[in-house]
Amino acid sequence: MSNAKVTLDGTDHQFPIVEGSENEVGIDIAKLRGSTGAVMLDPGYGNTGSCQSSITYIDGENGVLRYRGYPIEELAEQVSFEEVIHLLVWGELPNEERLEDLKAKLTEYAVVDEGIKKILEGFPRHAHPMAMLSSLFSAYETYYPTTGDSEEDVLRVLAGINTLAAYIYRYKEGLPYVYPSKDLDFSSNFLHMTYGSHGADPDIDEVVAKAIDKLLILHADHEQNCSASTTRMVGSAKASLYASIAAGVGALSGPLHGGANQAVLEMLRNIQEGEGDVAEYVELAKDKSSSFRLMGFGHRVYKNFDPRAKILKASADDVLDSLGLDDPLLDIARELEQVALEDEFFVKRRLYPNVDFYSGIIYRALEIPTEMFTVMFALGRVSGWVAQWQEMRNDPAFRIHRPRQIYIGENERSVPPISER
Ligand code: CMC
Repeated sequence: MSNAKVTLDGTDHQFPIVEGSENEVGIDIAKLRGSTGAVMLDPGYGNTGSCQSSITYIDGENGVLRYRGYPIEELAEQVSFEEVIHLLVWGELPNEERLEDLKAKLTEYAVVDEGIKKILEGFPRHAHPMAMLSSLFSAYETYYPTTGDSEEDVLRVLAGINTLAAYIYRYKEGLPYVYPSKDLDFSSNFLHMTYGSHGADPDIDEVVAKAIDKLLILHADHEQNCSASTTRMVGSAKASLYASIAAGVGALSGPLHGGANQAVLEMLRNIQEGEGDVAEYVELAKDKSSSFRLMGFGHRVYKNFDPRAKILKASADDVLDSLGLDDPLLDIARELEQVALEDEFFVKRRLYPNVDFYSGIIYRALEIPTEMFTVMFALGRVSGWVAQWQEMRNDPAFRIHRPRQIYIGENERSVPPISER
């Protein structure tokens, strides 16, 4: 296969075929408009490859997810989140020396300007943490003027998310801030800054730290999803990394994307509190006259199972066991999954639990407030955004992202005087 033929008004046009390293096939239509005058129409981009990428591979039919070739199952079991950051952003798993160096830098750059705290304190305490997070990343640019593509910006963002997430929690709870410790790894530092006591030595529960680390690894990247594409789009205008990440946070906050993890927990809690039972929620999700969707179900790419959900389902059991907890919401989640998976509506549309379905049960066991769930998603995903942003900026085919449209509005007409409108 070397070319694809498009026939328009009886004329044939040839377009090159591009093959990926996993035999994915694409049609390179970069010259389509120039040679035919037509554009592709693909609302929601379900059939559009926006770039060539060597970061993350997903085979949605078979539930496969790999970061730079390594299966997510192996990464989740065998390496730390810092190793995954290195893998995504610098292209390979680090050796010991590189890892130590990265860990030291992540602590060094986790210290944020005191002015950032003042901005945070200007927000109402009840505001949503994702709105605060996005604004704080925008504010980074005012404190750390950027040259555009520097490694300093990258480290500031990778490390800064840890501090910002923890500070947002402390501010909302009315607690004094706890500074990052140079003796702790990324996940333990998050726990220390979030739950530690001001001035006291870190006291980290290893089970909890391990669970956080795994969650961060599972959320780290997911190729051209809505927030990664947003980050690339903004960065393609040569906007700064900070501005691009702030936009990525905004995209992630939506309930169809990262915001689903909060929505799932609220749904399970409503069921527990008797505001409808499992069957009613499933029926409501099937009812086309309602806009309700079963949160944590369905995925644009996975049509068989989401490998992250599979890992998290097992992990939820382990975490609850290790912490000696018994959460009735986990039983409700399992029941909901069972009912949906046996229902013709969900079977026919190939809707399965996604990463957001079980993650909330674990966050809850770790005593993370529901409103902070999507921030936890961002805590992992920032590494993926940075990797995607860098790849886009270094791509030899770099151009500003600027889609076309098919205009369906009014044809030319004259402005009538106001008395005639
Ligand atoms: N509940 C009920 N029906 C659903 C659901 C759901 N969760 N998801 C999809 N459908 C139906 C949808 O109504 C449509 O039916 P029909 O063909 O009769 O019109 C069909 O399934 C295909 O849906 P779609 O909206 O075309 O699928 P999409 O690929 O555009 O959307 C999705 C993917 C994830 C936005 C969607 O499945 C959804 O809204 N899920 C609930 C929100 C959620 O859990 N989001 C987290 C996604 S994973 C992590 C992340 O990205 O952050």
